[in-house]
This record gives sequence, structure tokens and C-alpha cells, in this order.
Amino acid sequence: MPVVLGIETSCDETGVGIVADGVLLGDALATSMDEHARFGGVVPEIAARAHLHAITPMVRHALDRAGVGFADIDAIAATAGPGLATAVQVGLAAGKAFALTLGVPLYGVHHLAGHAAVDILDHGPLPERSIALIVSGGHTSLLLLGDLARDPVIHLGDTADDAAGEAFDKVARLLGLPYPGGPAIDAAARHGDPAAIAFPRPMTAPGDPPYRFSFSGLKTAVARWTERHCGPLPVADIAASFQEALADTLTRKAVAACRDHHIDTLLLVGGVAANSRVRALAEQRCTAAGITLRVPAPRLCTDNGAMIAAIGGLLVRAGIPPSPLTLGADPSARL
Ligand code: KG4
Ligand code: ZN
Repeated sequence: MPVVLGIETSCDETGVGIVADGVLLGDALATSMDEHARFGGVVPEIAARAHLHAITPMVRHALDRAGVGFADIDAIAATAGPGLATAVQVGLAAGKAFALTLGVPLYGVHHLAGHAAVDILDHGPLPERSIALIVSGGHTSLLLLGDLARDPVIHLGDTADDAAGEAFDKVARLLGLPYPGGPAIDAAARHGDPAAIAFPRPMTAPGDPPYRFSFSGLKTAVARWTERHCGPLPVADIAASFQEALADTLTRKAVAACRDHHIDTLLLVGGVAANSRVRALAEQRCTAAGITLRVPAPRLCTDNGAMIAAIGGLLVRAGIPPSPLTLGADPSARL
């Protein structure tokens, strides 16, 4: 039962998780989110400095929570990309140092594979084939998955412009809500009417690419609506209507992809999978279509160390050769 310590530093979260045989033993998370708030987005240099500060304490916390020591660790996994170059480098360098000192293998892993793998910690092994809708701050993709450790991932469609999380963050900014925008819009939308404003459902017209996404037009539609509006902005109604347009588009395409490919399991992962309306609508539509929806607990949807330990554990178990200690960060790594 290999014990894997995972390190995640691709953006503003310093995450460490310890996983043994698909079970999360313990984890720890620090975030520099507050330091970025006044800039309206993540500042790479600030994120990297914060990782350097937090990485060792987070490793200690995770070990304590897991009730294990350094001597119990069999492998290290660290995000090698994609992400902010300087931020990724901090976690990867720390991972190399731990691997070298402990005399255990290092696995440089893909951040998005971690987002998909984390669900095994909540719901057990993945089926032979599944479709994943990965929705985060940097990515929005519909993927056909086989064995996560061995099989290549097939991209059914990605976003043509903004990622779903990016759209949440930009619309929140338009509405004067704090960064990160996703949780702020989720909260504001609870008091609003999702049918108040008919925002567009991009790329859903007949003839549009069925599994591709585009969210910059939706963001512009919200901007135009707010510019034309006189008087105080109905923030809750705008938030609820925007969230509904996004949730409708995402879940409609994901369910269609499962149906068209005769896949009966949909994996909904990434930061935007923490959204209450996206989760509820996905559940409703999957149930109606006879599809099993797998979505991790919200705290495992956003960036964390457990997801990196989870994919690391799968690679170790599959006998995949570890990475060389010369491995570099790949900020735009493709899955
Ligand atoms: O996966 P993640 O933590 O980091 C990336 O890999 O990008 O995703 C972060 C994104 C941010 O854009 C954030 O606003 C969004 O996920 N997010 C949410 C919610 N929680 C986080 N979006 C909508 N609703 C939420 N509850
Ligand atoms: Zn992420």
C-alpha cells in the first residue's frame, strides 16, 4: 500500500495531501487568495513567494493530520504543469528535494489529471471509461477518459476563449463582487431569480460544435446589460441569471457527450464543480438521462494537494516509471 505525498502549487493554493491506496490520510491547504484580491486576479510573483513560505509548514501539517512520518512516504507527486511557471517551480523543487532526501521516486504530474483523479478519494475507483467535464479557472474541457494512469485522454472539446471559472471571476468583477468570483456569485445568486434575465447559452445553436464552449460572449452580454441598466444593479438577479446560463450550457453539453459516446458516467471536476447550481443541474440532468454523476466534495473540487497525491498513487500502482529529477515545470502542459 504505497503512501504518496502530493504537492500542488500551480496557482494561489499551496496544497499537500497524503494518500494511501485511494484513501486520503490527511491534507493541508494554505492560500494567498487575500493577497491577490486587490489586484482582481492572481499575481504570479506574489503566489510564488507565498508557496515558498507555506510549503514546509503544509507538509508538516499534512503529515501530522495523516498520522505518518517522513519515513512512511513511498513516493512524492508534484504538479509539473499547467499553471503559473514560477508557482509550479516552487512545489516541483520542493518535491524533488523531498524525493532526493527520502530516497523515494518523484512523479511530476498533470494538474488536470489530478482534478479528475481526486474523485476516487470520495467515490472509489473510476470505471473503465468515463467522460469528464473539467471546469476550472484556466480550463474548460470535455474529455473522454480511460485508465487515468495508462490511457491517453481524448479531448472532445475545449473552450474557444475564456474558461468557465474565468467567466465567473470576470462577471463578479463587473458586479463589484470580490475575487475569487465563483464563490461570490454562487452566494449572491441564492437571493436572485435565475429567470430574471435571458442571457445567451453560447455555442448551443444547431450547427455549433456540440462539445466546444465559449464564455467571452456571455461575459460581454452581462457587461452590455449592466451598461444599459439605469439605477442600482440587481446584483442577485444578474448573478443568478448568469450562473443559470453557464450551468445550463455546461451540463447540456456534458450530458450530450455522454449520450453520444454511450458513456454512463460523468465526472464533474475542477473549481467550478464546487458551484451549487452547476452541481444541482448536473445531478438533475444526469438522473433524467440515466447517467451516474460523480462529483467530489466541494473542498476537493478547488485546487488541493490530495488530488495530486491521488493521481500520483494511480501512477505508482500502475508501475509507471517516475520522473527524472531534472524534470522542468511545463506551464502549458497539455493533457
Ligand atoms: O480548479 P481551481 O481551484 O483552480 C484552477 O485550476 O484554475 O478553480 C478556480 C476557479 C476560479 O475561477 C473560481 O472562481 C472558481 O473556480 N470557483 C467557483 C466556485 N468555487 C470556485 N466557481 C463557481 N462557483 C463556485 N462555488
Ligand atoms: Zn485547478
